[in-house]
Amino acid sequence: MRDKDFSRMLNPALQRIGAYSVEGGQSAEIKLNQNESPFDLPEGLKDAILDEFKQESWNRYPDILPYRGIQAYAEFTGVSPESVMMSNGSNEMLYTIFIACLEKGSRIVLPEPSFSLYDKLAIMLQAERIIVPMHDDLGFDVPEIIRRAQEERAAFIVLSTPNNPTGKSLSIEDIRMIVHEVDAIVLVDEAYVEFSREDSALCLIDEAPNLIVLRTMSKALALAGMRIGFALTNPALLAEIAKPKIPFTSSRLAEITLQHVLANYHLVEESVSYILQERERIYEALKGISGLHVFESDANFIIIRVRNAQEVFSFLAGEGILVRNVSGYPLMQNCLRFNIGLRKENDLLLEKLRMM
Ligand SMILES: Cc1ncc(COP(=O)(O)O)c(C=O)c1O
Repeated sequence: MRDKDFSRMLNPALQRIGAYSVEGGQSAEIKLNQNESPFDLPEGLKDAILDEFKQESWNRYPDILPYRGIQAYAEFTGVSPESVMMSNGSNEMLYTIFIACLEKGSRIVLPEPSFSLYDKLAIMLQAERIIVPMHDDLGFDVPEIIRRAQEERAAFIVLSTPNNPTGKSLSIEDIRMIVHEVDAIVLVDEAYVEFSREDSALCLIDEAPNLIVLRTMSKALALAGMRIGFALTNPALLAEIAKPKIPFTSSRLAEITLQHVLANYHLVEESVSYILQERERIYEALKGISGLHVFESDANFIIIRVRNAQEVFSFLAGEGILVRNVSGYPLMQNCLRFNIGLRKENDLLLEKLRMM
């Protein structure tokens, strides 16, 4: 049994994907490689959350529909609770929505480069991927997205805006045009929306029955470890895409944490305002460093192009600074990505980049 070849018993699509990994790992003195917030929740807030969580019965299942978390996010965003679904991080919601929208042979339009999970899920579901390359400045090619979706009769379009890993956004006019001109479900992944110069697509969900907006609490809300994501769309579409959802994935701890963080949203606003100021300061500083090109970003991270990304990545890692080498993405040769950290971390990064 030990020597048996299991590969022929498994889904053949597994041969076309790899396991998720983070080059350089997940711990470093200065960790800037996963687009996290540099600020943890204050101790007092954590205590209040844990005190409330202690009152729960840990032997009981949480709610199938985590209505307390849903209610809190519905109130926060100003939509009805019937328009909101909560998940264990937005990655889990991506699985649910992809399963609901794709079958073998159905067509999905994916701008490239974009968040790697989209591609992976499309491959696993044996969908046909229609790839629309970004422009050389890494911006979206909106007319081509529409043209290819129409021409190929695509069922599904996934847009990350601001986009990971490029940091570029679509305007609300772009999104409005796309949702109205295509005959497809359009998923707009707004993982970084709080940092964007552009508005959220949420205001379009009443006028566009084919639009789903995806949110995560892992970035601006600084809750990556708590695993909270949301999908927002009209109630009819929500009821359909909720069908394949894994039940009970949102813990009561996640719901309680969300309620407390939304009730203290000034903390999020303060950290977003710090990150935006630092993003501009670092962008200007990087423009003054010869031998690298910096791309303007709408997210909590910045992309630079250097002469040799692997060399710079290794040099920084040796200095205790972990960034992401995103050179493997199309159009991003010799590019590195790093999120905004604490001021002293950012200063050290700039100092090291000046030495290269
Ligand atoms: C564009 C985008 N969508 C979704 C996610 C997943 O976030 P989470 O599962 O932590 O909610 C990420 C994480 O980096 C991302 O960059």
